[in-house]
Amino acid sequence: MKKLWGGIFQKDPDVLTQEFTASLGFDRRLAPYDIAGSIAHVKTLYKAGILKRDERNRLVSALERLTVSLRRGTFQFHPECEDVHTAVEYALGKKVGTLAQKLHTGRSRNDQVVLDMRLYSKDAACALIGGVCGLQRSLIAVAQRYNDVIIPGYTHLRKAQPVLFAHYCLAYCEMLERDKARLNDALKRIDVLPMGSAALAGTSFALDSAYTARLLGFARVSANSIDAVSDRDFIIELLSALSITAMHLSRLSEDLILYSSEEFSLVSIDERFCTGSSIMPHKINPDTLELVRGSAPEVFGSLITVLALMKGLPLSYNRDLQNDKKALFYSCECVQTSLALCAKIVATLTVNKKRAGEMLADERLLATDIAEYLTKKGCPFREAHRVVGALFRELRTKRRTSLGSLSLKELRKFSRYFERDVFTLLDVKRSVSCKETASSTNPVRVKRALTRWKKALS
Ligand code: ARG
Repeated sequence: MKKLWGGIFQKDPDVLTQEFTASLGFDRRLAPYDIAGSIAHVKTLYKAGILKRDERNRLVSALERLTVSLRRGTFQFHPECEDVHTAVEYALGKKVGTLAQKLHTGRSRNDQVVLDMRLYSKDAACALIGGVCGLQRSLIAVAQRYNDVIIPGYTHLRKAQPVLFAHYCLAYCEMLERDKARLNDALKRIDVLPMGSAALAGTSFALDSAYTARLLGFARVSANSIDAVSDRDFIIELLSALSITAMHLSRLSEDLILYSSEEFSLVSIDERFCTGSSIMPHKINPDTLELVRGSAPEVFGSLITVLALMKGLPLSYNRDLQNDKKALFYSCECVQTSLALCAKIVATLTVNKKRAGEMLADERLLATDIAEYLTKKGCPFREAHRVVGALFRELRTKRRTSLGSLSLKELRKFSRYFERDVFTLLDVKRSVSCKETASSTNPVRVKRALTRWKKALS
């Protein structure tokens, strides 16, 4: 097969050169975008008077037929083609003959590949935003289903204070909402058309790039052709947003792995998302969640890959840039699948209410409420903190399990601020309801937040 650039060469490339430089194995994902970009380019060439009406029609209709064959899975990627751009041009040649040779007028693979990557990134970011919404909906649904369940909240992975399970779920909704905001923000800078930049200097053909942008649905056109072919910031931004999302999904996975363990037994994960052991017959392991957690570092790695790829590159285009693709494709696909899996796992989660009750039978979870109680009775907070600390130490050393088993007289030895109503504090329901702040786990606040989230996601 003749190379696109064969004219000046007297020798064929070495086999290793061919193999090492080829990207068709992975950039074939760009084919639908490459064809859509080519259709817009043909129309732009016609508008500039470079193609005749009949030439435009034949090229557009052949390219449209290629789109159809791509969708049907019958598109032939010729294995000898170096990359997706070459493969599309080759397939076009099979349909329209020498006319295909006019397609590349006024463009270079340097602006073409950026166009393809921007179109891919736009689609990917929109699909990812949809995936994030899906997971948020699952979180809202499970929060709603168990809206009266209280669980121990943890800090340092030690029991801290009682919180509503729904409040815990909504924490992840907030994190995911920021993820969407970051993706939306990245979209603004993805949404720029690089065409008209050609190799790096622009082209002597009077192409109306604003028209091309309108055809392809881009908000803006690049202002500088050198920047347009060299810039991969949009990929770095997308990978950075995805890294944060992957980190969030990894934390959610970690929580669910932990909470579903025999030791916690607070939640159960549907068997459909578990796998077994080849030797231990009894095992039901949360492998999907482990792999979501285990994929996050690969997503971070792809961000570092592209940053490192860029840092020493002289302007403008260099072939190194070909290696942004695997990083981006892998991360988009991995996070998209992780989101879909997490959404299914969360939607089918069961919470063990009885177990939650057992876990809450620990008065230390109420220690902060008791300190705040004493403070409201007039005791300075630092002193109240000390008093309650000493009280729980005493209970521990004397092996008296319950604060409720102490008399008011005994309690008064710790602080004169204790009164009979202190015993009403020994109730986790009261603990969550006494919270006053807007962001708190107070059931009234959480219910309101749930309603707000449901409305926002509908
Ligand atoms: N496969 C190349 C890439 O991904 C396409 C651009 C090639 N351009 C070139 N001047 N060799 O970057």
